[in-house]
Amino acid sequence: MKKPTRVNHPPEVSLPAGNRPLVAPIYQTVKFEFDSVAETEAHLRGERPGFFYQRTSNPTTRQLEQLLAELQGRDECLVTTSGAAAITQLLLALTRQGDHIVCFIESYNPTRYLIRRLLARFGVTHTLLSVEDLPGVERALAAQPTRLVYFESPTNPITRIADIAALTRLGHAAGALIVMDNTFAGFHQHGGYDVDVFVHSLTKYASGAGDVMGGAVIARAELIHRMRTDFAVLGGVLDPHAAFLIQRGLKTYFLRYAAQCASALRIAQLLAGHPAVACVHYPGLPSHPQHALAARQMQDFGTIVSFDLVGGEPAARGFADNLELFALAASLGSGESLVVTPQMLIGRDLNAEQQRLSGVTPGTLRLSIGLEDVDDLLADVDRALTLTAGAALR
Ligand SMILES: Cc1ncc(COP(=O)(O)O)c(C=O)c1O
Repeated sequence: MKKPTRVNHPPEVSLPAGNRPLVAPIYQTVKFEFDSVAETEAHLRGERPGFFYQRTSNPTTRQLEQLLAELQGRDECLVTTSGAAAITQLLLALTRQGDHIVCFIESYNPTRYLIRRLLARFGVTHTLLSVEDLPGVERALAAQPTRLVYFESPTNPITRIADIAALTRLGHAAGALIVMDNTFAGFHQHGGYDVDVFVHSLTKYASGAGDVMGGAVIARAELIHRMRTDFAVLGGVLDPHAAFLIQRGLKTYFLRYAAQCASALRIAQLLAGHPAVACVHYPGLPSHPQHALAARQMQDFGTIVSFDLVGGEPAARGFADNLELFALAASLGSGESLVVTPQMLIGRDLNAEQQRLSGVTPGTLRLSIGLEDVDDLLADVDRALTLTAGAALR
């Protein structure tokens, strides 16, 4: 074999029987081969297990899928390049022209864009309600056949709590599938509810490091089977190296999530007692209007704390500038604490009444609590509040 040939067919190193790596290797390969045409064809007919092309599956992404399905308490999972890709692909896979979706004002803005703009171009209609408007949901479901009820809990950014038992009961009675973006609550929560499809951004708590993007759709086997071909052809598959990083992040997921929730509660309590703060949105606070519902549904209340400053938009901007440890950056769930200002939170697709219902005001800020020492975070928030309140008085 000449050297240019050899570099394209390097020596194989296979592990001897009884010898295995403790951390699974990254299968950074797009292609897999079988020993013969007959075996390849048998695989393509679904009669022989294995891997053929990464867009369909890869051992590293497959391992992550199996782990996530188990964490969320379902049979199956498909991982994607980002959370947005997971949402896009599942919406395209589960709807067709003429379908109707019930969706909510309190949701991640791009999700509403996908339903209200993108799917609308293909003849899918929707009803947009507040997630607290259960009578409205009942009316919408009675008015027309509905394909999906799509919600989040806690919602982004105001941390409203959806009544999951009520939404699943109403949706299923009307023959709809229930889809829940469970990114804020995490894989260890809500699995006991009768949700058909969970969607997650793996960019957040799964990786935890803020250095990789990913998404996941988790459901019973029959539903995933129905979506699998569409996902493979739509093509937003997760890269094996990203899957490896996300799986590495998951090793510390439970410790991180618990620590971040504990710090979030302390920060919410500080904010709730401060005169410069008009109101705090954190489901772990007894003052949260849905605290009892959150306590029934959740074991951890999450790491997102939103709040309104008395001084409105100027105060919100000043507060964000005065913080030193919190980075002014998008996303959430990583080790660094983050802050987002109202201009980045407001749903521009919403009319005035819908914006009022969304709960986001010109003075709303969203904090994502990271893994720094909580005393340092408390001191930073307290100092920024004092500086902001002082500036307002001058
Ligand atoms: C609730 C929620 N769902 C989905 C996404 C989209 O995830 P990604 O940024 O990985 O595309 C986000 C991102 O912020 C989110 O907050």
